[in-house]
Amino acid sequence: MKKTLIPALLLLALSGCSPEADVKESALMKNEDRITEIMSAMTLEEKVAMLHGKHMFSSEGVPAQGIADIEYADGPFGIREEMEPHSWNSIHLDTDSATFFPTGSALAATWSDELAREYGKGMSIEARLRGKDMILGPAINIQRVPTGGRTYEYFSEDPLLSSVLATEYVLGVQENGTAVCLKHYALNNQEDHRGYVDVQVSERAMREIYLPPFEMSVRKGDAWGVMSAYNKVRGYWCSENKELLTDILRDDWGFKGVVISDWGGTHSVKAVEAGLNVEMPGASHLGKTLLDSLEAGVVSVEAVDQRVRELLRVRLAVEPVPAEKANVEMTSQAPQQKIAYDVAAHSVVLLKNEGLLPIDTQKHKKIAVIGDNAVQTQSLGGVGAGVKTLYEVTPLAGLLSRLEGKAEVTYAQGYAKYTAEDRHRRMPAVREPDQKLMEEAVELAGKSDLVIFVAGNNRDIETEGSDRTNIMLPMGQDELIKALAAVNPNIVTVVVTGAPADLRVVKEVSPSVVVSWFNGSEGGNALADILVGNIAPSGKLPFTFPVQLEDNPAYALGVFPQKIDEGNEDIFVNLVNRRRDRNSIKLEADYAEDIFVGYRWYESKKIPVLYPFGHGLSYVDFEYSDLALKSTSKGVKLSLTLTNSGKMDADEVVQVYASRPESAVIRPEKELAGFQRVTVKAGETRSVEIDIDKEVFRHWDEASDGWAVEPGAAVFHVGSSSDDIRLTGKTRIK
Ligand code: BGC
Repeated sequence: MKKTLIPALLLLALSGCSPEADVKESALMKNEDRITEIMSAMTLEEKVAMLHGKHMFSSEGVPAQGIADIEYADGPFGIREEMEPHSWNSIHLDTDSATFFPTGSALAATWSDELAREYGKGMSIEARLRGKDMILGPAINIQRVPTGGRTYEYFSEDPLLSSVLATEYVLGVQENGTAVCLKHYALNNQEDHRGYVDVQVSERAMREIYLPPFEMSVRKGDAWGVMSAYNKVRGYWCSENKELLTDILRDDWGFKGVVISDWGGTHSVKAVEAGLNVEMPGASHLGKTLLDSLEAGVVSVEAVDQRVRELLRVRLAVEPVPAEKANVEMTSQAPQQKIAYDVAAHSVVLLKNEGLLPIDTQKHKKIAVIGDNAVQTQSLGGVGAGVKTLYEVTPLAGLLSRLEGKAEVTYAQGYAKYTAEDRHRRMPAVREPDQKLMEEAVELAGKSDLVIFVAGNNRDIETEGSDRTNIMLPMGQDELIKALAAVNPNIVTVVVTGAPADLRVVKEVSPSVVVSWFNGSEGGNALADILVGNIAPSGKLPFTFPVQLEDNPAYALGVFPQKIDEGNEDIFVNLVNRRRDRNSIKLEADYAEDIFVGYRWYESKKIPVLYPFGHGLSYVDFEYSDLALKSTSKGVKLSLTLTNSGKMDADEVVQVYASRPESAVIRPEKELAGFQRVTVKAGETRSVEIDIDKEVFRHWDEASDGWAVEPGAAVFHVGSSSDDIRLTGKTRIK
């Protein structure tokens, strides 16, 4: 077991890390005496009954003492419908249609702490209407590879951006009455083989890149729940990984709440002593087997008592919703729909604009909307959590409403839909175009003034349970856009995606390109408002769009996807996501790129990218000036002036990156150190102040096995993206 030992000198450097910003004492700690009393009247059987799922989405309270069960709401981007107690089948309630909130990468593209807080609030309000105590979200793993099946659920390739937004999401949820469950702890960065893959990662990369979103959500957000991931980390299943669940989570970060296993992700009674509270959703290990193990002395009663205490802390902190008050009103309501709209409207990223946006309806009267994604909903699809949503405005519906009376809008499908059936049959999504659909679309494009090509993936292509095999646009979209461009060069491409895509062809033939995500119930309205210029785009990429997949660090180093021994392929294919025989499988994920994830790799290795981390244009220009830096014992204070020289009000996300020229440790070129979303009215100038906590400059010191902050020179690069730096300044970290 590794201990966090920090030599005196480094401790000095760390003393200014504003620990006051941490939660002083978890709100969970208010009822310790009452818990002692409750537990003194409980039998061992009653205690063990709390440590496993009762139903698919609930675990037991203490019925003899009137203490309610814990009800879990599957998330993280909308409250999942009600299901039968022991199956995944819907019970078809009339009131459980929820708001579909934009998925993780869309929220991250807002770079807005306020919107993340609102998002959590909206989720929590809907969870309460449904009688839920804990939301299974946010999902905050780092996007290590662009092909990762759950990239769309996760936030970013950067730990700071992920941490800030995750913490706000947590605060928004918990201030409004439900607990969060941070998932998937930890290092669940791939879906293929997730049930048994063993992540081999350095302590430094784990601490600096992969754990901070969890750490900050606990230390600064007082998160009350965590879900252990399916995979192994350095030899141990996450659900029985003492280092993760006890030494780091509880001892280092001060977590006081509960850890539940991912569904079917508990493997033995060892989990209890390692720090797992609840096996979900059944009792394969932490039911009768646990009782037997207690009797045999294999598991200690003290460990069970501690796990029960933690469960009761959460149970007493969250007010149960009486059954007769749950599911009375419709889950999705106007205030939450408004939050979904606001997030979507601030998330759309303008990648490129050579004059076609905002749409000029004086010049372009006949508008052809082309692409199956223009009419698809994205709230459901693929494996795993989806939202039975009350409504979802598609891109075409949004455009029709915003262009009504201003332009003639026509539609052609253009490419075939990748369906659930295709996914079940493991059909590749990258394939030849459908000739007939292509011909129809080309004909329509030829007769139109402007083409809006709605390209990208859908939820059956990006899904839990499997990774994509590449990032090419699916269903012949590259060929289609080339054919469209041959008859009409005025193409605006809208890329619907939750993850990076290979946009080389799109970039070449389409003068204007936006990314519009899986953007929730109001996604079509938000997109249309941006395309027609009712609002200026202001989203920024939360991850890099590489030129090609092979440039991604894990691919470039040949460590992803994992190579399966010849002759063994069948076993792996058949076992993906099946529980049987997992224990015998040995497959390691080598995180050879170490801390060089995402832009940290591309910049340090000088590898060109298609669209850099943080990139996103507006309809206005922003001028940056007057950078001033002040170093204090708590960190660095930055101020600058921002002018909107355009003709409409707009938001800019000011980004601050830091590099440490005198550092004695290997570091990336630069790393995100702070950011702020700022609204500036047309023609106005504003001053912007950004405080950077000293803790941001910490690194994991492998020699002392602890955090350290190096004093000395720091260069600050301030700009509109990681690759569009407008101001640079230098100061010293004290
Ligand atoms: C997913 C979790 C989810 C759970 C319950 C698992 O397969 O990994 O994110 O909350 O199922 O649906």
